[in-house]
Amino acid sequence: MTVDLPDLVAMEAFGLRIAANMRAGDVISLSGPLGAGKTTLARAILRGAGHEGEVPSPTFTLVEMYDATNPPIAHADFYRLDDPSEAAELGLDDYREGAVLIAEWPERAGGFAHEPGCLRIAVSFADDGRKAIVECGADWLGRAP
Ligand SMILES: Nc1ncnc2c1ncn2[C@@H]1O[C@H](COP(=O)(O)OP(=O)(O)O)[C@@H](O)[C@H]1O
Ligand SMILES: [Mg+2]
Repeated sequence: MTVDLPDLVAMEAFGLRIAANMRAGDVISLSGPLGAGKTTLARAILRGAGHEGEVPSPTFTLVEMYDATNPPIAHADFYRLDDPSEAAELGLDDYREGAVLIAEWPERAGGFAHEPGCLRIAVSFADDGRKAIVECGADWLGRAP
C-alpha cells in the first residue's frame, strides 16, 4: 500500500491515523534515507498518542521513553549501532515492555519484519513531498492506517 505525503499536513494526519490504531507490543518501523521524514512522522505519532512536549531526535540517546502517552512509546534511532546485537545491550526488551516501539533505521537493529505486530513504513522523496510504502504484519490486518 502506498500513501502520498505531499506536505507536513499530510504527514501529521498519517501519524495521527497510526497512533489511533497502534497497540502496546507493536513496532512502527520507519526506514528511508536521511531527511526522508522519519522523525517528523515519529513526532506526529507521539502527538497522536497524547504527547504535548518536545520530541528530541534520539540520534545520540538512541532511545527516548514516553511513559505518559497511550500506549507508552519507546522512540529509538538505531543509526549509530555498529551491530544489531547492540540493540539488546541497550536494554531494548525492557523499553518495549508494555509499549509501542517506533524504530528509525530499523535495519541497523536487525529489522522487525518477522514480528506480527510490525508496521513497516518506508518513507521516500516524491517531488517536493514524500510518499510511504506501508506493509502490515499479521496483527495489523484490519487496522492498517
Ligand atoms: N511530507 C513531507 N513533505 C515535505 N517535507 C517534509 C515531509 N516530511 C518531512 N519533511 C521535512 O523533511 C525534513 C527532514 O525530516 P526528518 O523527519 O528530520 O527526516 P529523517 O528523520 O528521516 O532524517 C524536515 O525539514 C521536515 O520538515
Ligand atoms: Mg531522524
